[in-house]
Amino acid sequence: MTLSLALLALVPLLPLAAAQSPVWGQCGGIGWTGPTTCAAGSTCTVSNAYYSQCLPSSTAPTTTVTSTQTSTAPSSTPPAAGSGLNTLAKSIGKLYFGTATDNNELSDTAYRAILNNNAMFGQITPANSMKWDATEPSQGVFTFTNGDTIANLAKTNGQLLRGHNCVWYNQLPSWVSGGKFTTAQLTSIIQNHCGTLVGHFKGQTYAWDVVNEPFNDDGSWRADVFYNTLNTQYVTIAFNAARAADPAAKLYINDYNIEQAGAKATAMQNLIRSLKSAGTPIDGVGLQCHFIVGQVPSTLKSNIQTFASLGVEVALTELDIRMTLPSSTTSLNQQKTDYQTVVSACASVSGCIGITLWDFTDKYSWVPNTFSGQGAACPWDSNLVQKPAYSGIAAAL
Ligand code: G3I
Repeated sequence: MTLSLALLALVPLLPLAAAQSPVWGQCGGIGWTGPTTCAAGSTCTVSNAYYSQCLPSSTAPTTTVTSTQTSTAPSSTPPAAGSGLNTLAKSIGKLYFGTATDNNELSDTAYRAILNNNAMFGQITPANSMKWDATEPSQGVFTFTNGDTIANLAKTNGQLLRGHNCVWYNQLPSWVSGGKFTTAQLTSIIQNHCGTLVGHFKGQTYAWDVVNEPFNDDGSWRADVFYNTLNTQYVTIAFNAARAADPAAKLYINDYNIEQAGAKATAMQNLIRSLKSAGTPIDGVGLQCHFIVGQVPSTLKSNIQTFASLGVEVALTELDIRMTLPSSTTSLNQQKTDYQTVVSACASVSGCIGITLWDFTDKYSWVPNTFSGQGAACPWDSNLVQKPAYSGIAAAL
């Protein structure tokens, strides 16, 4: 048979193939509106309530249309490197590969084209629009317009959403940070803020960073309005309010400089142990992963394992790897190695469920505004061109 005849013979099968997910593709989960059956040789397997995936199997499910086999890659073949980071991450059993984004970036058409591709990013996090100053600028007055934009974008794109965040010392409106409250007053303020915020997005978020950055680098508690008024109890108050508002959302605590073994990681591990033993509804820990080129901690993988062994999900929530500017071939190659090291560490620990870049392009990175003379921290450059770091990530997946 000539090639053109062979292709013609496949034409009647195409509608059937389109009604199924390919091997490694998504086939179910909350919010999923695509195919729910899998290509021949794979089985729709529930990863969690939000995500079911067509995993290779020796026995195809009864709903599989075996005639599509001719147009499907061999079931044991993983996706090609060009498939997109999220597709690659799912192929090794991760829930998502994602990125932060921000409302003011969405008017950039070229940026949005990459962001919206759910083969590249299966999860997004709003960098600012769900924070306290953005959502409750005056007491009891809630604004969700920008947060809704990001939540709707995730839904349209078929991407998971991480809510960020409920309680944090930073980006607080002055009525909170400068307030003088009794314990009862601040308890009620936290309950109202977390409950209203998480409740507004109920059913739309995979996870929430309920408490963000509670520790100083030496492992002591950060002396913010929450700790100064309520001691450590504010954490439990926030988690309980979030769980009551959306029982299906995974509730995380999130921090930086807990990626390596040391006082701060130990403090976080001790807190997670005590929260779990007290019955506080905590499901996960976020390791932010704001790293410096050439300084990825050597204990990253073992530390991820230590967190996972506490019985919580682990996610790398804000990954970027900055360097001194201007970048050079040497620093960009080292950055590639570093991204590969970080992603490999998550890849090799089953309890590490996903990775989020703290935006994917240098065009919108927070780094140059905070660290003078530093930048180039993302896998795409400021012209939205993939850097060597991109292939480092792909290689790890
Ligand atoms: O919205 C105002 C705008 O009206 C004003 O004209 C402009 C002038 O500076 O500022 C704008 O606000 C900025 C805001 O980002 C939105 O762009 C703030 O100045 C700026 O400080 C703020 O930075 C954010 C930073 O958190 C604040 O701490 C970054 O975008 C955001 O990426 C960053 O994210 C944090 C995570 O939430 C927690 N972990 C660390 C991470 C990096 O700092």
